[in-house]
Amino acid sequence: MSRPYVLLSAAVSLDGCLDDTGPRRLLLSGPEDFDQVDAERAASDAILVGAGTLRADRPRLLVGSARRRAERAAAGRPEFPLKVAVSGGGDLDGADPFWTTGGERLLYTTDEGARLARARLGGAAGVVALGPAVAWAALLDDLGARGVRRLMVEGGARVHTQLLQLGLADELRLAVAPLVVGEADAPRLFGPGAYPGGPRGRMRVLGTGRVGDVIVTRYAPTAPGTDAAATAADRHWLRTACELAERCPPSETAFSVGAVIVAADGAELARGHSREAGDPVVHAEEAALAKLPAGEPRLAGATVYSSLEPCARRASRPKPCARLIVDAGVRRVVTAWREPDTFVPGADGIGVLAGAGVVVAEVPELAVAAVRPNRHLVPAGTGGA
Ligand SMILES: NC(=O)c1ccc[n+]([C@@H]2O[C@H](COP(=O)([O-])OP(=O)(O)OC[C@H]3O[C@@H](n4cnc5c(N)ncnc54)[C@H](OP(=O)(O)O)[C@@H]3O)[C@@H](O)[C@H]2O)c1
Ligand SMILES: [Zn+2]
Repeated sequence: MSRPYVLLSAAVSLDGCLDDTGPRRLLLSGPEDFDQVDAERAASDAILVGAGTLRADRPRLLVGSARRRAERAAAGRPEFPLKVAVSGGGDLDGADPFWTTGGERLLYTTDEGARLARARLGGAAGVVALGPAVAWAALLDDLGARGVRRLMVEGGARVHTQLLQLGLADELRLAVAPLVVGEADAPRLFGPGAYPGGPRGRMRVLGTGRVGDVIVTRYAPTAPGTDAAATAADRHWLRTACELAERCPPSETAFSVGAVIVAADGAELARGHSREAGDPVVHAEEAALAKLPAGEPRLAGATVYSSLEPCARRASRPKPCARLIVDAGVRRVVTAWREPDTFVPGADGIGVLAGAGVVVAEVPELAVAAVRPNRHLVPAGTGGA
């Protein structure tokens, strides 16, 4: 069963707000952007919103353009995309325009919510009860089974946040409006929590442009299940790197780090650890890379596992490890522990890597193992140790 392609679409202020706290909906984008959103809707099989947005904004979620509707009809599609809402409690108003205007309507809810929703909505919508809770994967599976190939998600904050955090979003279309809301309690697009790619995980920019006075950027999140996420094999190799770190000659002035380079087919290409073979300054990633011939073709598909985030700056060699990794043509790094400020404050090896297009996955549950040989160099409590 194939899930639909999931496009998150939102407009935010310069301070990242989806709305202000006033009773009326804050208009963020202008007519040109609304027209593009209309085109996105027309290109979608279904449009989804959370019940919070229904209650706050009472949107209709239609395709406004008669030409686009005619084109859909000519292509044998319904005039309007399927309209999908999500509610846990089922506390919905059947008089909301969402339920009374064009398009087929579907509500995903809990077993409990379904009872209230059926009473409130009557025959205005199909009601799908997904058990004691609404699981997004199950919802997407069900939409896929209904033939939905492309799903446009129009908010609000809680819906966008969950889909992104769960790695279920394929794309984010973000319109940034040139205004500042300036209210502490205004709803933010993305809430707190863990996002794919780690706390500073970077999305890929697919394109950007000016639409009227808003700037629209399309991003591809790095989602679990795709290249960014750590797999069981990743954890195995990263654990190996952490074990290598234990073999480093002790030092008061440098971290003990282990690194393993593994080819796309799972074959180990090289390994290394800090200060190995009598070199007092060699770093783990550097030592591992040095064991491979220059231009080794398998590096392009390889992953570097390093117990510590590759260094971004170092005095002992001309190039830090993050740069060596980029220059070697490696496209993926998996690490357990971000470099603390002990020796190089503000070092951002992950930023250097990501800025060069290298996908970085973090496995924080192995941070304890990565910190262990370095306990004397970091404040107590670092890495959960
Ligand atoms: N600027 C924009 O592009 C844009 C777009 C849309 C919305 N907004 C703004 O966003 C705000 C609304 O955001 P929001 O976070 O309050 O609302 P929301 O994300 O639209 O809806 C949240 C509600 O959806 C239901 N829901 C979400 N996840 C669920 C799950 N896993 N299981 C069961 N039910 C689930 C729940 O409904 P029940 O409470 O019924 O259980 C929950 O309260 C409004 O201020 C609106 O203006 C802005
Ligand atoms: Zn290094």
